[in-house]
Amino acid sequence: MSRTIFVTTALPYANGSFHIGHIMEYIQADIWVRTMRMSGHTVHFVCADDAHGAPIMLKAESEGISPRELVKRYAAERPQYLNGFHIEFDHWHSTSSPENIELSQSIYKDLKESGLIYSKTIEQFFDPVKGMFLPDRYIKGQCPHCKAQDQYGDSCESCSAVYRPTELIDPYSTLTNATPILKSSEHFFFRLSDPRCVEFLRKWTNGQSSNGMSHLQPEVLAKTREWLGESQDSEASLNDWDISRDEPYYGIPIPDAPGKYFYVWLDAPVGYLASLKAYCKKQGIDYDDLMDVNGSTEQIHFIGKDIVYFHALFWPAMLKFSGRKTPDNLHVHGFITVSGEKMSKSRGTGISPIKYLDIGMNAEWMRYYIAAKLNASVEDIDFNPDDFMTRVNSDLVGKYVNIASRAAGFISKHFNGQLAYVGNTDALITAQKDAAEPVRKAFEAREYGRAIRLAMSYADTVNQAFDNAKPWLIAKDIKQANHEQKAQLQDICSRALAGFKALTIMLAPVLPNLANTVANNLFSDETPYKWSDISSLPQQIQPFKHLMKRVEPTHLDALLEAPEEDNNQALPGGEAIAETIDIKDFMKIDLRVARIINCEHVEGSDKLLRLVLDVGEGKTRQVFSGIKSSYEPKDLINKLTVVVANLAPRKMRFGISEGMVLAASHANEKNNPGLYILEPWPGAEPGLRIT
Ligand code: MSP
Ligand code: ZN
Repeated sequence: MSRTIFVTTALPYANGSFHIGHIMEYIQADIWVRTMRMSGHTVHFVCADDAHGAPIMLKAESEGISPRELVKRYAAERPQYLNGFHIEFDHWHSTSSPENIELSQSIYKDLKESGLIYSKTIEQFFDPVKGMFLPDRYIKGQCPHCKAQDQYGDSCESCSAVYRPTELIDPYSTLTNATPILKSSEHFFFRLSDPRCVEFLRKWTNGQSSNGMSHLQPEVLAKTREWLGESQDSEASLNDWDISRDEPYYGIPIPDAPGKYFYVWLDAPVGYLASLKAYCKKQGIDYDDLMDVNGSTEQIHFIGKDIVYFHALFWPAMLKFSGRKTPDNLHVHGFITVSGEKMSKSRGTGISPIKYLDIGMNAEWMRYYIAAKLNASVEDIDFNPDDFMTRVNSDLVGKYVNIASRAAGFISKHFNGQLAYVGNTDALITAQKDAAEPVRKAFEAREYGRAIRLAMSYADTVNQAFDNAKPWLIAKDIKQANHEQKAQLQDICSRALAGFKALTIMLAPVLPNLANTVANNLFSDETPYKWSDISSLPQQIQPFKHLMKRVEPTHLDALLEAPEEDNNQALPGGEAIAETIDIKDFMKIDLRVARIINCEHVEGSDKLLRLVLDVGEGKTRQVFSGIKSSYEPKDLINKLTVVVANLAPRKMRFGISEGMVLAASHANEKNNPGLYILEPWPGAEPGLRIT
């Protein structure tokens, strides 16, 4: 039976570029969507930018642009990432769209009519300098428990204590350093503690959808049972949810409440519906019919483990009590770490998805590796560079692609591209179906790692059959071969290629681009493949063309090289001027004239030059500088330049770098790769300070 499924991923905050965690989530969802489409189901797969909230407002302000412009900047770069990784959303929208404003306000009104909204006056920290109420993360102070300095307003990173911002000792605003004052204001609340809500949520969280799947994974259910007071050692105590924020705030105005806005998490999930609605309009689909409260459309959200509370409690309750369709499944995933480390931009860990693409790494390597690591649990996964290389090279190149490259040559050379099978092919078709069905099922159950293992074990089977039959022996003496032997050679290779096609179909959710290439260029099949195509054996091929390169160690070196010292704030026309600093801040930077004593290429690096500098200290320093693209080493020797002399030494793959040479560059390095090293006017000498 054909299903209609509405699928979303979490809406990313629009105050930054995608990181590998986002890409992982999209790849996970995209694989699932493709799996379902290959079965003939109708899937509407949408996402949107989460445009609202205090961090976006404050970041825009610090750059002197409007929040809308800030969001637009990140929205503009989204397609590069999505297309690059073959992530095929049907539609991408924004939570600041008219659809979302309309839907959020109408859901709010419906909740109000259900008697679940009330207002009360509360006291909160207010920054008297900035003139705004402070979100917890903008308040710091001393931990009330362990007395550690500079802890956030909600929890202590040193002793893990959780508290209210008002409990901090000597609190200060991180925006202005001012001491916050307590100020009262009216807030709106969603009465989550209402018995109707608790009863509904207990039922929903424990429930199953019409597709026979539990709404929640077991680990997630265990959490919600705790929150809902269903486990033995906890009491039911859902707090009501504060859904309003005071001006100044970047958000959706609350109807009939001047100066009040919805807290970003109220309108964010509504953005799922807004995006679908805009998509429906574009496609001429009846949205109201599609999302009818009694309809059969399945609604599935892929999210990370950090936002379960919002999606398993707030969101279903909002939908239920505003008279709407509730979600069918939450698919919660863990976090991706890189070499076992949590991602952090400041520490230079993590890998940049755009750099991955820019340096020419194949997106399908990443899709494959992530798929091989994912399963239906909430466990974290790790991107390990060496493991990545081994996996991709041995599985994709060594096992899978290798089948075609071995068999296709004989068929093209000796049989003019014609395939032929000796005897009855029913058993072959049955074997392929029997191999593919568990793979399909595993993908549908989000057990991607299992799906990949099953597919690879089928690849082993196909390779072994080919090896055992030793077709190369017949091919070597093809002139002497009789009709029967030729038929045998053709049969062996045809079966291998049939296996290759079957594997291509099995891997198509993960490797959609490669699957299309194989279909178009090798088998002349229609694209995209469907699961049912497994039953039609290939009958001819076009000459085999190279399908996939191996991962090389140099790829990984380039990918993991520490990021350039730019702050990634590129604007289309230039770069915004950084935050204002005072002379004291400037004087912290010790800039010196330096003479370039020597300069040479760095073996294995396509970016760096190694400079030996005289900074007037009576000894030399080694500095690595990413200027290889613009300068020949010999042209720099003996020139004067400017160096940051008091930068902490940094360990790089090629050695320690003891400073940084100044060079000008465009904000958008990709379009404007030029770099211009600074040179003082004649007369300057090594060691002079620049002020
Ligand atoms: N804007 C909210 C979501 C609103 S949904 C109505 C948000 N945005 S986010 O940009 O911080 O995160 C978006 C998604 O990325 C979330 O599902 C989050 O769990 C996921 N990830 C963020 N870091 C991640 C990893 N390191 N690994 C995997 N996924 C991670 O939360
Ligand atoms: Zn503490």
